[in-house]
Amino acid sequence: MEKEYMDKIDKEWSNKRKVSKSRWWMVPSILRHVNEIVCGEPLEGVSSGLNYKLKKLGFKFEHGVSVGFGNGSKEFKLMEEGIVNKFTLFELSEERIKIASDNADLQGLSDRVEFIKGDYYIHKFDEDVDFVHWNNSLHHMINVEKAIKWSFEILINGGVFYMDDFVGPSKFQWADAQLQLATRIRQTLPDIYLKNRRKPGKMLDRTISQPNAQDIEKADPSEAADSSAILDNIKKYFPNADINLTGGCVYHTALNDILCNIDESDEKDKTILDLLLIIDELATKSGVETQYATVLAIKNDNILKLISRKIRGL
Ligand SMILES: C[S@@+](CC[C@H](N)C(=O)[O-])C[C@H]1O[C@@H](n2cnc3c(N)ncnc32)[C@H](O)[C@@H]1O
Repeated sequence: MEKEYMDKIDKEWSNKRKVSKSRWWMVPSILRHVNEIVCGEPLEGVSSGLNYKLKKLGFKFEHGVSVGFGNGSKEFKLMEEGIVNKFTLFELSEERIKIASDNADLQGLSDRVEFIKGDYYIHKFDEDVDFVHWNNSLHHMINVEKAIKWSFEILINGGVFYMDDFVGPSKFQWADAQLQLATRIRQTLPDIYLKNRRKPGKMLDRTISQPNAQDIEKADPSEAADSSAILDNIKKYFPNADINLTGGCVYHTALNDILCNIDESDEKDKTILDLLLIIDELATKSGVETQYATVLAIKNDNILKLISRKIRGL
């Protein structure tokens, strides 16, 4: 990886602004919906469905590896739940390493985590790796095949690949069916939901159009760099992976910036959101490309796919 590239990602992610409650992963009803698709239970919290499956399967890992860990909260949760004993963690953002390191101290986990600022790909591990964790970071890898192949190679036989990530079109270049569905949703919603909270007095667009790929590249060259290649490469290196498509065309694209206008404690708003989530799920099942997915796979083993279907009651 070139130094110039690594410095740019460091700058972008060390100065990342906080987003308001307009993103789907901040909305409890959507998290419950996603978790239910993944594990059959409408659990609270980010990635809880996937973690529940790991627990149900009785997995315990000695040494996990995670790339692009942000503030480390997802990895620390797995440690606190007794699923992973220690982690080697890779990041490019100096600021995020500092935050994660402070969090690890506070949670008494410091002696079981190693932080590495730099290129994960060239690192030589002294100890076996039995767990590779990607959470909303695989879609930031410039070459997804290289990252998944690396994950496969560093794992011991029987080790587990875990992913909860954006797997939609690279650089958010939505397919026609996605643009059409998201636009139809926006055109149907009453004005009150289209209020633009960032620009008071203005309305959000009722038409969803393709974002400019060059603008995205300029702001953050790692953003959805090669995301459309994720699922095919997972199937290539982990042919028996348990993959759950968790959708997103409605809750991520159509409702982007609209979610802060939906009050989950209001019965009418909650009903509208629930109906929109049903549309999202059915759209994915009927072939509208998913934007998010979860994956669990055991290196060189196919038992997991079979058991996971049982957990979901299929
Ligand atoms: C969307 S954030 C996800 C953070 C965290 N995994 C989470 O789910 O909250 C993506 C993170 O990947 C990091 N990143 C991007 N490219 C990277 C690379 N090549 N190696 C390590 N980290 C990288 C960024 O600095 C950023 O913190």
